[in-house]
Amino acid sequence: SPKTAVVAATLTAEPFEAELVPGKKTVVWAYNRNIPGPLIEAFEGDTVEIRFVNKLAQASTIHWHGMPVPADQDGNPQDAVPPGGERLYRFTLPAGSAGTYWYHPHPHGDTPEQVYRGLAGLFIVRAKDDVLRHLAEQHLVISDLRLDSDVSIPDNDRNDWMNGREGQFALVNGQREPVITVGAVQRWRIWNACSARYLRLAVPSRKIILVGSDGGLLERAQIVDELLLAPGERAEWIVAGPEGDASLMALAYDRSKMGKVAPERDMKLASIKFTQDSVAKLPERLRTLPPKIKPVAKKRVVFSEIMSMEGGQHGMQFLVNGKGYDMKRVDLTSRVGETELWEIVNDSHMDHPFHIHGTQFEILDTTLKGKTISAPWRAHKDTFNLKPYQSARILITQKHRGLRMFHCHILEHEGLGMMGQVLVK
Ligand code: C2O
Ligand code: CU
Ligand code: CU
Repeated sequence: SPKTAVVAATLTAEPFEAELVPGKKTVVWAYNRNIPGPLIEAFEGDTVEIRFVNKLAQASTIHWHGMPVPADQDGNPQDAVPPGGERLYRFTLPAGSAGTYWYHPHPHGDTPEQVYRGLAGLFIVRAKDDVLRHLAEQHLVISDLRLDSDVSIPDNDRNDWMNGREGQFALVNGQREPVITVGAVQRWRIWNACSARYLRLAVPSRKIILVGSDGGLLERAQIVDELLLAPGERAEWIVAGPEGDASLMALAYDRSKMGKVAPERDMKLASIKFTQDSVAKLPERLRTLPPKIKPVAKKRVVFSEIMSMEGGQHGMQFLVNGKGYDMKRVDLTSRVGETELWEIVNDSHMDHPFHIHGTQFEILDTTLKGKTISAPWRAHKDTFNLKPYQSARILITQKHRGLRMFHCHILEHEGLGMMGQVLVK
């Protein structure tokens, strides 16, 4: 049997002064004084031991977004580490868990602030028999930054709470419009680590070769013109010549924000320099996903929002099945290892990305204005977007017992209550 290892690291969350603007100091909160936090890499079968040291003035947790870790190791809001405290997260990565993940705080109420001040990091799980393992990799984590004129990071305002926070800049690996060099064929992993910014990614005049989603490789490569990555989603691309210059763009995307907002515009994320002609030669089949299992139970999750007078400071309430998040309430129950059919409904007039903890799911189809469309390809996902009044049917199997959160991954909406809990028995 293949060798496994223990992957150990310490992640310290702390405020520190970073030079985001040359010659000026900005106080950010980050893991190990890095934005993004350190990349953690492990193989399927490995055991991961992360010591978390909380040097923030707020309680915090580390949540392993998308990864099949036991519920008591997943940084639930109920398991917050107090300021000055620490704990050990320990989990073993099962076969089939290879994918492109990330980690970020998940304390009750303070998740948006902790993420927009800089706390988030990358996690890659590899399969030893990955058919693309010979390719050089490029990692692009796209995050959002807002700075005041004094280069400090401002608090959320009313519009941020309503629409989710976007910054002036979308940064690629912490940099503004970096130049990415592509020589031989590369494998890109791309993270949308923004709190609320949608990324309609395109490389104008070139095609995208999509080979992976949140939870690892697709069965077959898909050639697309553009790819929407909602907050929290990830993708893998194969990037190859011809030689020449190109741009990685986030094209304008209308997610039906509320109130008076500036019109959406195309935004350049990075320049790409292809230094040679290269051609991607990919195996016909990248992976074989396990066969679809017939569901034994059904669940329905409805996202909605209402204007509220007493909703207090923010004027909006964001709800799941008619209720705001309560960390003491169990909203749904499931059984470990049983496949369920969940219908996710966006009963509101703005886009919301659905996300659930602890496992990957498969989208069967989506319905908009009475028209149902089957998923164009099979994929393992943990986050996907729902347009206004769109619904989706997903197949989901939880792998561990315990309490799991599901929520909108616009972090302000999650923070304001668009989150529920499923108890897996
Ligand atoms: Cu990426 Cu509940 O989170
Ligand atoms: Cu998550
Ligand atoms: Cu939302």
